[in-house]
This record gives sequence, C-alpha cells and structure tokens, in this order.
Amino acid sequence: MYNFSETLESLRAKDLYRKLNYLEAAQDPYTIIEGQKVLLLSSNNYLGLCNDERMKEAAIRTIQEYGVGSGGSRLTTGSYKLHQELEEKLAAFKETEKAIVFSTGYATNVGTISALADPDWVIFCDRLNHGSIIDGCRLSGAKLVVYKHCDVVDLEKKIKRYHNKGKGLIITDGVFSMDGDIAPLPEIVRLAKEHNLLTMVDDAHGTGILGKKGSGTVAHFNLQDQVDIQMGTLSKAFASEGGYIAGKQSMIDYIRHKAKSFIYSTAPAPHTIAISLQALEIIQKEPERRKSLLEKAQWFRGELNNNGFSVPMDNSPIIPLQVGDADLALQWSRKLFEEAIYVPAIRPPTVPQGTSRLRYSIMATHDYKDLKRAIEKTLQVGKDIRNNSEKKQ
Ligand SMILES: Cc1ncc(COP(=O)(O)O)c(C=O)c1O
Repeated sequence: MYNFSETLESLRAKDLYRKLNYLEAAQDPYTIIEGQKVLLLSSNNYLGLCNDERMKEAAIRTIQEYGVGSGGSRLTTGSYKLHQELEEKLAAFKETEKAIVFSTGYATNVGTISALADPDWVIFCDRLNHGSIIDGCRLSGAKLVVYKHCDVVDLEKKIKRYHNKGKGLIITDGVFSMDGDIAPLPEIVRLAKEHNLLTMVDDAHGTGILGKKGSGTVAHFNLQDQVDIQMGTLSKAFASEGGYIAGKQSMIDYIRHKAKSFIYSTAPAPHTIAISLQALEIIQKEPERRKSLLEKAQWFRGELNNNGFSVPMDNSPIIPLQVGDADLALQWSRKLFEEAIYVPAIRPPTVPQGTSRLRYSIMATHDYKDLKRAIEKTLQVGKDIRNNSEKKQ
C-alpha cells in the first residue's frame, strides 16, 4: 500500500525528482546558494524590489506599528485599514470598480474560479495556463475544455463545439509563466463577446511590467473595460506575497461571500500589505524600471539567438531555452551552477513532456556585464554537453 519511496524512486529514475535549493542571502542579481555566490537568473523579482530599501523600511515601519501576524481571517479580525487601502489602490491601478486581496495567487485562482463557476458552466482554458487555474477549474466542477496554446482558431472551434449557450468563461494567463509569451487577448475578448462568455486574465507575470502605466497585459492591449475578471499576484514584480481579483463591484462582493480560500484562510499580515502598497507606488512612479527590464530581456533574447540558440522574441522578462528531455535540462542547470549561474531546470509536470527547459528571467537590476557572462557560459555549457553526448555515441 502506502509505498511513497517507490514513487519517489521512479521519479528519480526519470530525472523528475525535485529538491529544494536554499538561498543564504537576499534575492538580488547575486545571491548565495550552497555557500556559493551565484548570478541569479531565474527570479520572479522582475523589478528588483525584494531587497529595495524603501520596501524594507515599509515592512519595518508597519511591524513596529501593527506587530507581525494578521491574527485572523479576512472576515473576522484579519482585515486592517491597510488591506482596504491596497484593494482600493489595486482597483484604481487596474481601472476596475473594485478589488479583493487573497493570501496567495494560488488561493486567488482556486478560490475565485470555484466560487464563480459550477457544474453548469463550461470553462475554456489555454493548455499552458498556470496549475492554480487548472485546479480552480477542476474544483468548480465545470466542464473543462482545453484549447491549444494561444490558438484562437482552436478556441473558436471548441467554443462552437462545447458551448451550450449556458454560462461560460475563457481563462488565459496574460504572460505565460514558463514560456514568457503574451496571450492574444484582443481575439480572445472578441470571441468571448460573440459567444456571450466571460473572460478572466491571470496577469501574475505581466503586472508591473507591461502597459503604459505598468498595470499589465490587459492595459497593454487597452482592454480594461472589456476583460471581466483581472487576476494578479503580489509575489512577482511586487516582491511581496498575495494575489487579487479586480473587476465589477458585484462580482467582487460575490467572491467575498463565496471564495473558500478567502473565507477560511488567515489574512496576509499587515507588513506584507504595506510592502505591496510600497511596490505599487514604485511601479507607478518609476516607469524606467520596467523599461530597462524589457530592454535587457530583448537584448538577452537577441544575444542567445545570435549565438545559435533559438528563443522567441516575446516582449517579457521570461526567456525559455527549451532543451527537450528532463535529464538534459538538469545537466545544463548543474553545469551552469558550476559556473556560478543559477537557472533551475523546469521539467514535467510544470511543463509538457519533451519541453524541459532552462527558464531564464531577467531583473531590472541585472547589469549587462553579468548578462553577457551568462550568454558566454550558456554557449560554453551547450558545447560541452553536445561534445559529451557525441563522445558517448
Ligand atoms: C500565472 C500564475 N498564476 C498564479 C500563480 C500563483 O501565485 P502565487 O505564487 O502568488 O501563489 C503563479 C505563480 O507561480 C503564476 O505563475
């Protein structure tokens, strides 16, 4: 019966066993792992705010005033004035009527989707949407229809086939977390309107980065008044923790009554909220951060391509270098680590079989000298791996 070790052994045999790598310093362009100073090139700390003095001061100030834990769930004693202020500012940032903050992005998706949809609904979901979306869809009991990644022709075909004119929703990531490409939102919204479906965009990786004011993918396409449910996280560009939904007042009120991960979970601590508020202010006041981030990411993509690799030229800080099999991705990652560069291997089930990769991601605080070294070392590691495999054959 309960043979956990056997399963773990089989994961190990397929190079799918996972271990934790512990950081021993701040989440900066350089950090320390296993006692070694390494260039961190896979962080979601896109704007480099995790170790920003203003962010730390906001946390310390708030801890001194309010203490540490939130002390309760949002509906009992865990909601502070700070939560209210953040929700109001997020709603304004996203240009919606209202917003509601959860303790994590995962809880936001699972709670919201399962609160809104039920077995009478059909949900159309991009094949590469984040796991928390898939879990939310499953928990809702709605009919789940997966369409090919960013393929609006397939989406339309599936809507015609499966939408029974009842209630339904199209959900997509704004910027895809493991591929860094951007969803074709204008076409998705058009199809949703044509077929009377709601739209939900998970913009965990676009918020703070895309759009004129940094508010994300929806604003990048100027669709603020067209997308029904805007989801975001506070854990990436915001360098904090938490997630939120922004949208119409009635929908947000409904979520507050129905989303179990909101109701039955302790509220984010006041200092976490203060950090998010500080990040929001920086995002709005310092557009040069996202500009510099995107310039560096474009440069890095271009350099990889100029050196014989093939990565898409999407406009985001997430750069997938697909290598295929899990063992190969692990080898790349290990060899880069030996060169003091940390880029973890991303393997199934996080990505589909055969698409294991190194997920590079750029931070606004990286400098070109370090990025250049990363390109050189990637090139060298690629050559070493190729030479080794030719020798074995
Ligand atoms: C697209 C997407 N949605 C949701 C989440 C979950 O957010 P969090 O890490 O804040 O729980 C993530 C983060 O991993 C993500 O990449």
